Amino acid sequence: MAAEKVLVLCATGKVGRNVCRALLEAGFTVYGTTRTSPDRLRQQGVTPIVCDYTKAEDLDRALAESEAKKLFVISDYFGAAGRSVSREVEQGRRAFAAAKRAGVQHLIFMSVADAECFDDKTEHIKAKVQLEADLRASGLTYSILRPCAFFENLDDASNWNPLKRGVVKFLSDQPIKYCSTYDIGRAAAILFQDPQQWAGRSLDVISWQGDLAAVARALEVVSGEPVRPALSMPIWLRRLLLNDLHHMCLYFERDKGPKGEPEAFRQIVPDALTAEGWFRFHNRYADAEPIVRL
Ligand SMILES: NC(=O)c1ccc[n+]([C@@H]2O[C@H](COP(=O)([O-])OP(=O)(O)OC[C@H]3O[C@@H](n4cnc5c(N)ncnc54)[C@H](OP(=O)(O)O)[C@@H]3O)[C@@H](O)[C@H]2O)c1
Repeated sequence: MAAEKVLVLCATGKVGRNVCRALLEAGFTVYGTTRTSPDRLRQQGVTPIVCDYTKAEDLDRALAESEAKKLFVISDYFGAAGRSVSREVEQGRRAFAAAKRAGVQHLIFMSVADAECFDDKTEHIKAKVQLEADLRASGLTYSILRPCAFFENLDDASNWNPLKRGVVKFLSDQPIKYCSTYDIGRAAAILFQDPQQWAGRSLDVISWQGDLAAVARALEVVSGEPVRPALSMPIWLRRLLLNDLHHMCLYFERDKGPKGEPEAFRQIVPDALTAEGWFRFHNRYADAEPIVRL
């Protein structure tokens, strides 16, 4: 039997590339959208569809060209939506409408764990709550993945946090629930393989919890070198410069963050990555040097 086709939107991003990787490993034929980097996708074994995933006509073409009846939808407040909640909602709705027109049989939407629980100043999560509601009312067969903080934030040069030897930085030094984007993909593969079981359901993607000191200890174990935990900026500056992300961090710190537990996610993905597991999986500093020394 031919492998089932999946179309991944936003396939070159931090989430998209690892979702593609996990879906390929699970045996799917994977198509991915990109405006600019088809070669990167090709090298990964993904068939690129050059288009802008925020445009209705491009989505229609991507679904027609791929003939995929499974669709992984990511919406993006900071990038594609230009920090506009209403634009992110419009873009998500456009993807759902295109899925309906194309007869998609199972759509997975990536939201955020506990999206409805963040305070009113956490702008970048608001669209997720609306889009989840839209999806429930859409008539599509859908599932929702709700990840917590990505380990990928620990090495994110585009957001001024490149991972360097001997130090690990984050916006909070408090206990935080983390997951890897690879495990979002591994969960997506499981859901796509069993739509009847997962139709209309959501799954929190949470694979590890620890404070920044525990993150640093994990990197020490993997790298064999001393690692210092450090806040990426003082809390007063975080409040001043990053109001939205500051309020997200407050939910993690003051309210203890998403209610889901790693043990629950491990029932679905038994070898979901811990901090040590993620540093091994990622295995590079921002300057491309490997973390694991032979
Ligand atoms: N960071 C976290 O801890 C965390 C936790 C939970 C959920 N999330 C969610 O993750 C999502 C972000 O995903 P990500 O980290 O994978 O994003 P990302 O790495 O910034 O990638 C976004 C992709 O969107 C495309 N893109 C960027 N600007 C665009 C534009 N103006 N028009 C059309 N396409 C554009 C780019 O692809 P091309 O250039 O190839 O077209 C890019 O690969 C957000 O919804 C966020 O809420 C993040």
